[in-house]
Amino acid sequence: MTVRVVLGVSGGIAAYKSCELLRRFTESGHDVTVVPTASALEFVGAPTWAALSGKPVSSEVWHDVHAVPHVQIGQHADVVVVAPATADLLAKAAHGLADDLLTNTLLTARCPVVFAPAMHTEMWEHPATQANVATLRQRGAVVIEPAEGRLTGADTGKGRLPDPAEIFELVRGVLDRGADPSSVNPTDLAGRKVVVSAGGTREYLDPVRFLGNRSSGLQGYALARAAASRGAHVTLVSANVSLPDPAGVSVVRVETTAQLREAVVTATATADAVVMAAAPADFRPTAVSDAKIKKSDDGSAPAIELEQNPDILAEISHDRSRAGAVIVGFAAETGDASGSVLDLGRAKLARKGCDLLVVNDVSGGAVFGSEDNEAVVLGADGASVEVPHGSKTALAHVIWDEVVRRFAD
Ligand code: CTP
Repeated sequence: MTVRVVLGVSGGIAAYKSCELLRRFTESGHDVTVVPTASALEFVGAPTWAALSGKPVSSEVWHDVHAVPHVQIGQHADVVVVAPATADLLAKAAHGLADDLLTNTLLTARCPVVFAPAMHTEMWEHPATQANVATLRQRGAVVIEPAEGRLTGADTGKGRLPDPAEIFELVRGVLDRGADPSSVNPTDLAGRKVVVSAGGTREYLDPVRFLGNRSSGLQGYALARAAASRGAHVTLVSANVSLPDPAGVSVVRVETTAQLREAVVTATATADAVVMAAAPADFRPTAVSDAKIKKSDDGSAPAIELEQNPDILAEISHDRSRAGAVIVGFAAETGDASGSVLDLGRAKLARKGCDLLVVNDVSGGAVFGSEDNEAVVLGADGASVEVPHGSKTALAHVIWDEVVRRFAD
């Protein structure tokens, strides 16, 4: 079935990046109607939008009046994406103003709506804009946090439009949720703060060598993306992952387990949920050499003495000051003489003290770096949810479903 996307474009310099977003939608077979504001057309002209979408483009309500476009476009949309959304557009949307085709469309749409704001940091941080964003989120819209980095001029800060490829991924997540009959509320994480850790930590022996592991970060990034598409405010603590920043997600980069611990513990203090998808190194060298360790002439190798790292999951699970956050851990098990994969999972759940444990059977080394996953989600309340082989995104949504079920209110 063709998905009908309305791409609203408001008047910011980032309008040019929306051409790429539009291409991604059309190349995926979606039917896209572009609705630019008059100011957006100052940045990118109507012929560009018309040629890329294959459809006529208008910004005001006085064209093709017989077709009642100000009502029809919104009513028939499967998703409305406004990228970039300026401070002015957000204000109009929050207050229900309708003085052009895009703002009329926003009032008639009953489908999921995603805003991707882009503006200068001062405008984004202004209490008026923040209040408008809060209003829109509270009504169920997904308002993506802008990215940090270079702005229009030489200045940098928060306010950049996220990478169009990542906006596309987020919208795809929103559409998947909308199409899933079991998802009653596609933005059920709106207003929630969640923390996800991803990747594998490195423990340095000297400035150039480290002990590491095979974690790719794919599952953690899928969790962060899925949470953002469900409206959450997401902090992603990322350890040595070479994947693009997901749209709307605050990424904190770390290398070692100590740094991961620091970042996770800090973010957990105000979080509603924490998912520890990272693979922290369990051990670190007792001493880190300041200089590169040299080979010796006699052919002998240095002995490396290790000490144990703190168990972050156990620490935050047992810390009662976390004010009721739902804590989720992962367990990669192979099963052994002492028990099956699930036996070991149950024992680990109890030992760590978390609310949920996602148990992967890694006997064949199948999970690492793969796009797919299969798992059993065990609950401290005795629940056991089998997630059949599927995408890491599908598993991410099941995990968030289980988290939402455990929110106290
Ligand atoms: N974890 C953590 N801190 C560590 C090690 C692991 O928070 N230092 C978290 C991982 O992010 C994961 C969970 O704990 O969510 C399971 O990790 P795992 O290494 O499988 O558990 P261990 O306690 O190390 O058990 P095992 O003896 O099986 O290695």
